Amino acid sequence: MTDANAHPHVSSDGKFALIHNGVIENYSQIKAFLVSENYTFKSETDTEVLCNLIAYHYAKMGAQADGQSPFLESVRKALHHVEGTYGIAALCTEHPGEIVAARKASPLILGVGDDEYLLASDASALVSRTRNVVYLKDGELVHIAGKDFAISTLEQADVSPVVDRIDWSVEEATMDGHDHFMEKEIFEQPLALENAMRGRFSADGSTAMFGGLNLTPEEFRNFNRFMFCACGTAWHACLVTEHLIERFARVPVEVDYASEFRYRNAPLDPNTLFFVVSQSGETIDTLAAMREAKRKGFRVLAINNVVGSSIAREADGGIYQHVGPEIGVASTKAFTSQLLLGAMVALYVSRLRDMSFNDGVDYVNALRGAPELVRRALAQAPRIKAIARRYAHYTDFLFLGRLSLFPIALEGALKLKEISYIHSEGYPAAEMKHGPIALVCEKCPSVFFAPKGEIFNKIVSSMQEIKARKGPVIAIATEGCELPPGLADDVIEIPDCHEAVLPIVATIPVQLLSYYIAVERGCDVDKPRNLAKSVTVE
Ligand code: AGP
Repeated sequence: MTDANAHPHVSSDGKFALIHNGVIENYSQIKAFLVSENYTFKSETDTEVLCNLIAYHYAKMGAQADGQSPFLESVRKALHHVEGTYGIAALCTEHPGEIVAARKASPLILGVGDDEYLLASDASALVSRTRNVVYLKDGELVHIAGKDFAISTLEQADVSPVVDRIDWSVEEATMDGHDHFMEKEIFEQPLALENAMRGRFSADGSTAMFGGLNLTPEEFRNFNRFMFCACGTAWHACLVTEHLIERFARVPVEVDYASEFRYRNAPLDPNTLFFVVSQSGETIDTLAAMREAKRKGFRVLAINNVVGSSIAREADGGIYQHVGPEIGVASTKAFTSQLLLGAMVALYVSRLRDMSFNDGVDYVNALRGAPELVRRALAQAPRIKAIARRYAHYTDFLFLGRLSLFPIALEGALKLKEISYIHSEGYPAAEMKHGPIALVCEKCPSVFFAPKGEIFNKIVSSMQEIKARKGPVIAIATEGCELPPGLADDVIEIPDCHEAVLPIVATIPVQLLSYYIAVERGCDVDKPRNLAKSVTVE
């Protein structure tokens, strides 16, 4: 990153300034054309190219804008020539008091405040000033001129604005006494889970209910496969959901990275229900995977946190996470609520099929108890902080788990690497002997999930393999569970719980461990290098 490449970019005639989120794919051809027209460039960015393209059309247009604003029309004309993605906002020295903004495949929200307008890619940036927002759609431009604004399309059609209300408050977007948003979001998970499940159990207490599926129970029952697509942490949540749906409902599930699905042209059973999972609802790969699935005629449901996001708007139906804004780049409460909602989808499908009333009631009661169990897991924070201090200097970690905790091992490794820059790998515990065991030595700690259950002894054997090679072991084990003496260097206990709740509860220690290690290393926890909260470029 250099000063020259930093936004805003200014056109070479000095008339336009532009900020841009996205990628202009054909910028080198446009740049070559503009260079031939004597435009000059100070940076290597595609944004400066777009800024000069606007200036070029403005100069060419002169006063010929068909009664429209020449500023607005020059932006519109320039956007007709670009390929790629953008959320932009432009200023023009000859039109003071005006802003032209537009979007295509990158989020853009207009805040409608008291005597002011605001533009942002995420509602959390606006909420301290206003809760009235307009979610711009792809291919729309907004022209703010003094006290007025008008929305139109790239094709010059007028659009009537719909002003939505953000349903969370500014308090939810502040740190509330915590050192970081990530810390705050970890500790508010009991409440977040309560909010995610609120009003979503049937009156007889034996199944889940979702208001926005836009499918009857009969239609839902008739799907004989499910496909889940997501990226990063949300993809880990899908893996847990796959495990629970297959385990309890006995319906086959496939999970794919959205970025892979969109290009691999997978053969899909026509009777497949497609899910996308995304906290932000703006991840470009997930959005593209969803569009591809819809193009092929599949019904797509979204599990999504941000109300009004692109994914929420384009899905055929879905389930909002209702956990409030997640500001820390490292996903925490959004992840555990995705686990919860995935578990509830598994319950819903199971009860439409073979699960008994009594098993449904047990499952519901277990989910209702999840917030309290998470509170108990969070009570281990001081102990985990002390452990983190002793392990913060290591440069390699393994995270090992089995069955529904294998995705939590992946999530633990992702959390640690993204906020502390420590190399870490998640693996199925038994798969470790097929390669990663070569890494094991006194310099490479392993974090083991060792919950009680039928494969506990297998996990103990894997731990013994690590110990025999002098690898330090941190075990995350069920309260009161007897690990052979000397096997783990440190033990973090989690409460005993139902299979559907275990992944949620087991996530807490790895979130805390990663957080405290990153703090100990002096890392910028909420804004880790090279990462963005929502990845709106391919
Ligand atoms: C999570 O900690 C990451 N920052 C990242 O993997 C994230 O989960 C991913 O980019 C997907 O985001 P989404 O849920 O907003 O689609």
